[in-house]
Amino acid sequence: MKKPTIAIDGFSSGGKSTFARAIAARMGLEWVDSGAMYRAVTLWALDNGLVSTEGKLDAEGLVAALPKIDLAALAGDPRLRSVEVNGLVSEVSRLPEVRERLVAEQRAMGAAGGVVMDGRDIGTVVFPDADLKIFLVADPAVRARRRYEELRAAGVEVTPEEVERNIRERDRLDQEREVSPLRRAPDAVELDNSEMTLEEQMKWVEERLR
Ligand code: DC
Repeated sequence: MKKPTIAIDGFSSGGKSTFARAIAARMGLEWVDSGAMYRAVTLWALDNGLVSTEGKLDAEGLVAALPKIDLAALAGDPRLRSVEVNGLVSEVSRLPEVRERLVAEQRAMGAAGGVVMDGRDIGTVVFPDADLKIFLVADPAVRARRRYEELRAAGVEVTPEEVERNIRERDRLDQEREVSPLRRAPDAVELDNSEMTLEEQMKWVEERLR
């Protein structure tokens, strides 16, 4: 039997990656974190002088350099989650040429099935024919609290208010972006995990797949 393709989309800090990783581990699928790919392109731009000291992105230079960016070399770099990358990744993921390259790679990774991929446009653009599309939502205050705890555990000095403001701003940018904005695909099932444990989410997905 062909292994399923599962698409998980949703807002930032909604627990998509944790959920996707757990599904992949339980069902023997490959997990692809598409956000990490947008982060990798952003990190490459930072490392290669395509961002000015004032923080302005050289979009033209980045688009010209796209074919030579070795994404695999940046996978797993801890700086993918840095404040610098966080601050610039929305701008990078707005560029149609960047999306075109990454979507092509994502489709290639999923061509044989057996993939669970999380992101913003997986059910709408990358895998419109996915076997299961999940649109994950959670109360912004709940997401902010989770993110705040993660950041504090990593030793980052922030206030809960800063984190919530940042989350609401990213929600706005993700939804208002012109190219591939975050949208629930018409055939996606919405799951609100505000009050759910990971194990409860796993039960839910196993029932769905049955
Ligand atoms: O999921 P994340 O926070 O790691 O995503 C990082 C950024 O990349 C976020 O600003 C949205 C963008 N992104 C996107 O535009 N399309 C995707 N499929 C995944 C992420």
